[in-house]
Amino acid sequence: MSRDTITILDTTLRDGEQSPGINLNLQDKVDIARILEQLKVDVIEAGFAASSDGDFEAIKAVARTVKDSTVCSLSRAVERDIERTAEAVRPAKSGRIHIVLSTSPVHMKYKLQQQPEAVLEQGVAAVKYARKFGSDIEFSCEDASRSEFEFLKRMVEAVIKAGVTTISLPDTVGFSMPPEYGGLIGRLLNEVPNADKATFSAHCHDDLGLAVANSLAAVAAGARQVECTVNGIGERAGNASLEEVVMAIKTRHDLLKVRTGVETRFLVPASRLVAERTGFEVQRNKAIVGKNAFAHESGIHQDGMLKNPLTYQIMAPETVGGEDYQLVLGKHSGRAGYRSEMERLGVKFSSDAALSEAFRRFKKIADQKTHLDDRDLLATVNSPTV
Ligand code: KIV
Ligand code: ZN
Repeated sequence: MSRDTITILDTTLRDGEQSPGINLNLQDKVDIARILEQLKVDVIEAGFAASSDGDFEAIKAVARTVKDSTVCSLSRAVERDIERTAEAVRPAKSGRIHIVLSTSPVHMKYKLQQQPEAVLEQGVAAVKYARKFGSDIEFSCEDASRSEFEFLKRMVEAVIKAGVTTISLPDTVGFSMPPEYGGLIGRLLNEVPNADKATFSAHCHDDLGLAVANSLAAVAAGARQVECTVNGIGERAGNASLEEVVMAIKTRHDLLKVRTGVETRFLVPASRLVAERTGFEVQRNKAIVGKNAFAHESGIHQDGMLKNPLTYQIMAPETVGGEDYQLVLGKHSGRAGYRSEMERLGVKFSSDAALSEAFRRFKKIADQKTHLDDRDLLATVNSPTV
C-alpha cells in the first residue's frame, strides 16, 4: 500500500455496538458488513469474539460472508481470548486479531492492577501467542493519549518487535486536542526505532467533539490507518465518524495529500442501514449524512444555489449517495427560492407584481409554520398561472 493511502478500519460492529442501547443480531451484523464491503472499507472490526457466544457466531458469519475486506475481532491480551478470536476470524479470506492492553498509569493501576513492567511483558507475550494463528495482528495501547510517553514508546517498540503490523494509539476517553494527538503520533513515528515496520493507527472518541479533528491531525502527522464508525456511533459520545473522516480526506486532498479507497456513493445508504438496525437516528444537522446536510433555507443561500451550487456546497450530494440538494422554504427564504419552488409545482408568474403579491402571502404563512408543504405553497396562489 502506498504511503499516501489511508487504511479505513470500520468498528461500527464492535465499538459502535458498544453504545449503550444498541444490540445487533447476527443478521444485522452480516447485512451491515455487506454494505461496509460495498463501501470498500479495508478492515471490518466485526465484534469482540470472547465477549459472548452470540458475538462469536456473528463474527464468524461475517468472516464467511465478506471477501474483499479484512475481518477483525477485538481481543484482550490473554490466551483464552486470542484463541476465541482466531477461531472467529479463521473463515475470513483475510483475518486480523486486534489485541488491546492499557498503557496509561490510571488504567494500569486501577483497572489492570499491575505494574508497568508486567503489562509490557503481557503485551509482548500476547502478540507472540497470537502469531501462532497466522493472522495479521493489530495492537492497541488503550488510553494511549493519557499514557506516559517513555513507557508508551517502549510498549510500541516491543510489540512491533514481537510481530504486530498495525499499532493503534487510542484516545480512549476523547481527552486529546488535535495538535497534542497529532504530536503524539508524530513523536512516536520519529522516536520508535522500528516504527517503519508497522502502520500507525488513530482511534478517537468524541467526548469533546474532537474525534474527527484528532483523527485528521493523526493523519497529518503520519498515521496511515483511521478507525471509525458509521454515523459516529460508539461508547459514550461515540467514535470518529467514518463519513466525516472519509469526506474530509477526499474534499481536502489539496491539504492532506492522502486518499482512502472508500466508495463514497454508499455513505448515505450505509448511514441509513446503520440507523435502521441500531435504532439510533441520525441528527438532522449531522455532517455528510444528516437530512439537512444539503438543504438550504435562507434567501441569500437559495439565490446563490440557484445560480451555482458551488456557492454554498463543498461537495455534491450524489458523491455521498444522497438525494439532490433541497431548497427548503421557510421564513428566511427569498423570492428566488420561492419562485423556483413554485415553478417546480407548475406555477408560472406572469408579472413581477403577481410574484410579489404571492410572495407576500407566502411570508405570512412562513412566519407561522416551520414546515411548509406543497399544499401550503399552492395556497399562496389562486391558479397555476398568476
Ligand atoms: O477506545 C479504545 O481504546 C478502544 C480499544 C478497546 C481499542 O476501543
Ligand atoms: Zn474505542
